[in-house]
Amino acid sequence: MSNREREVLEWYQEQPRKLNKDFVSNIEWNAVPKYEIDPKFLPVLLYMRDVEAFTDVYYRQLQRTPTGKDPVIRQFMDQWQHEEAQHAYLLDRFLNEAGLPTDAKWFEKAKAKIPRSYSVKSYINTSITNLFGKKFSAVHMTWGAINELSTLQGYKRLWELAKHPVLEHILRGIASEESIHIFFYRNVARVKLEESKFSRKLARFVIEKFWTPVGQGTKPEPETNYVIKTLFSGTGGLETADTNINRSIALLPGFETTKKITNRIAEAVRAGERAESSAA
Ligand SMILES: [Fe+2]
Ligand SMILES: [Fe+2]
Repeated sequence: MSNREREVLEWYQEQPRKLNKDFVSNIEWNAVPKYEIDPKFLPVLLYMRDVEAFTDVYYRQLQRTPTGKDPVIRQFMDQWQHEEAQHAYLLDRFLNEAGLPTDAKWFEKAKAKIPRSYSVKSYINTSITNLFGKKFSAVHMTWGAINELSTLQGYKRLWELAKHPVLEHILRGIASEESIHIFFYRNVARVKLEESKFSRKLARFVIEKFWTPVGQGTKPEPETNYVIKTLFSGTGGLETADTNINRSIALLPGFETTKKITNRIAEAVRAGERAESSAA
C-alpha cells in the first residue's frame, strides 16, 4: 500500500460528517407534506433507497475479494457502508413523511427480490477478481468512482426537477457525502491505475465491457432505465452526465477516450422513453 493511498484514507477519515446529529435533527419533517411531489419521482426514490441499502450486499461481496483485504480500502468501506445505510434510511423516512408509507420490512423484501442470477454472477465476478488478485482493485475503484459520480448527479437532477424544498435539503446533505466518496474512489483508482499498464488495460476492458448503471443487476434493467430516463432526459440531462460523470472518469489514466458512461446513459434514456411510449 502506498503512502498516497494512506493519505487519501486519512483525508476521508478527517472529514466531518455532513449528516451529523444536528443536520438530521434539523430536517423539517413536518413540512414534507406541505409540498407536492410529482408521482413520477416515487419509483426513483424507492430505487435510490434500495440501491443505497444494497451497499450492504455489495460490501459483503467485496470483502471476499483482494480489494476487501486491502487495508486502506477495507477501512474506508467500513465507514462508507454506514453512511450509505443512513442515506437509505433518510430516503425511506422522506417517503413515509410524504404520506407514502413503506413496509417496515422493506429492506428484507427488496433484498429478497435481487435475482438469483445476480448472486451467481457476483460469485463468478468474485472468482475472476481473485484470479487477477490485487490488479483488480483498479477496476473496483474505478467502478466505484463511476457509481458515486452517477449517484451524486442523479440526486442533483432529482432535487432540480422535483422542486421539493425538504427533499432538496436532504439530498444536498447526502450529495455532499457522495462527493467525499467520489474523492476517495477516484484518487485511489488513480494510484492503482498508475501502478501498471496491465491494471489500466484490465480496468478499461472490464468497464467498457461490463459496466452497467448503479443498481442494475440488483434491480431489473427496465427499472434502471426508468430512473435514468426520468432524471436525465430533457434539457441538459445528457450534457450533465457527460460533463460530470464521463469526463471526470476520462481524466483517469487509461480512460482518456472513454465514451462508455455517456453512451450507456443515453441508451437507457432511449429505452426508458420507448417503454413509456409503448405503455401509453
Ligand atoms: Fe449514498
Ligand atoms: Fe456514496
